[in-house]
Amino acid sequence: MTEKATLTIDGRNYEFDMFTGSENETCIDIQKLRSETGCITMDPGYGNTGSCYSSITFVDGAKGILRYRGYPIEQLAEQASFVEVAYLILYGELPTPKQLALFRASIAEHAPLHTSLEHHFSGFPKSAPPMAILSAMLNLVSCFHSEVLDVHSEGPGFDKTVALLLSKVRAIAAFSYRMASGRPIMHPNPNLSYCSNFLHMMFSDPYREYIATPVVERALNLFLVLHADHEQNCSTSTVRVVGSSRANLFSSVSAGVCALWGPLHGGANAAVIKMLEEIKDSGKPISHYLDMAKDKSNDYKLMGFGHRVYKNFDPRSLIMKKTVYEVLDELQQEDPLLQVALELEEKTLKDDYFVERNLYPNVDFYSGILLRAIGIPLNMYTVLFAIGRMPGWIANWRELLEHNHRISRPRQVYTGQTVRQFVPLRER
Ligand code: ACO
Repeated sequence: MTEKATLTIDGRNYEFDMFTGSENETCIDIQKLRSETGCITMDPGYGNTGSCYSSITFVDGAKGILRYRGYPIEQLAEQASFVEVAYLILYGELPTPKQLALFRASIAEHAPLHTSLEHHFSGFPKSAPPMAILSAMLNLVSCFHSEVLDVHSEGPGFDKTVALLLSKVRAIAAFSYRMASGRPIMHPNPNLSYCSNFLHMMFSDPYREYIATPVVERALNLFLVLHADHEQNCSTSTVRVVGSSRANLFSSVSAGVCALWGPLHGGANAAVIKMLEEIKDSGKPISHYLDMAKDKSNDYKLMGFGHRVYKNFDPRSLIMKKTVYEVLDELQQEDPLLQVALELEEKTLKDDYFVERNLYPNVDFYSGILLRAIGIPLNMYTVLFAIGRMPGWIANWRELLEHNHRISRPRQVYTGQTVRQFVPLRER
């Protein structure tokens, strides 16, 4: 603690400790605010509210900086595998070759799903959204591995649970796609890498094995690395809120999947593609859609634009855009939606409404085009985001327990009726 902040209410001064983080972010610690002043703060959407001290991920929205455990996202995206990044996020340090080999082996070991768990897939209708299946099935995993219900934040039990979860989320995601497309489940191949194994479970058939090309594998790896954590976003905060009641890890991440599903969060990656398709097919000029987004009499937003924290640029979006070009080039593909996206970006960057509000493409703006290029179906985009975000959710759940965090329980200012007397039904 270095400085104090003074708050004056009705002429009386109250002092609060201030805290500075390792990147010079400052906060006023108001934990005693209510007990000392009787007041609470009001901050819907928590834009100004810190909910925890964390050493996992650093984001500087003004400068467009994102680092996992101190390592710049640009370096990790260029050089690291998703499993390596998952280890880093979870355990705080880059793995040695031996640690990485053990971690990979543990993930491979837990890849198959319990046969009874597999049977549950056939109970979902074909039209079931994969995000609903993913959330439900993640919760169900704990029914078949009861030991994970009593897992704490460290030790062999935690290590095993981490490997189990990183492995099962991938299989559940692929199986949900297979069921929805009426194809039999394809079991994991322990000899394949994390990304190749996922693509194999998605696309192989009994008589035709899908073999991911290096370009496709690299693109998927990059997608997962870019999504691996992003500090206290909506889904991670949800995982923390649920975990704060000491709910088990599987229930907590299952809730995270639900929070991620919404179009303002992870669901934006699929919503962007739908928006770009609509713009392309409508034949209307881009300005029509810009006008709709600016018109406050409707809820229309340009999907893939804007961010609570990034007010200059989203570094993930820059990497994603560059990779889209590389992948389309290497696969010798052209995507007409890329042209629409580029035109939309160009027009918004020159438009006063977007400039004044610091609205730039976020990670979801180009990610859908990348996933399209490597053959991922639209209804799986947000599921892939969930696979990528799993290390971040687990690490935040763990940190919560390590810090012995209080149960999350915001307050409110009541604006309803004051006390009144009940009127029996016959007199109403
Ligand atoms: N299109 C048009 N206007 C927008 C957009 C948009 N995409 N995003 C924000 N605005 C406007 C708001 O209406 C507001 O206008 P006002 O000041 O006139 O009222 C202003 O910009 C500021 O926006 P906020 O509401 O403060 O933004 P907030 O931080 O609450 O929301 C969010 C951020 C949810 C990302 C928002 O920008 C949005 O809905 N974007 C589209 C959906 C999207 O791409 N989500 C993915 C985000 S990244 C991720 O979750 C992985």
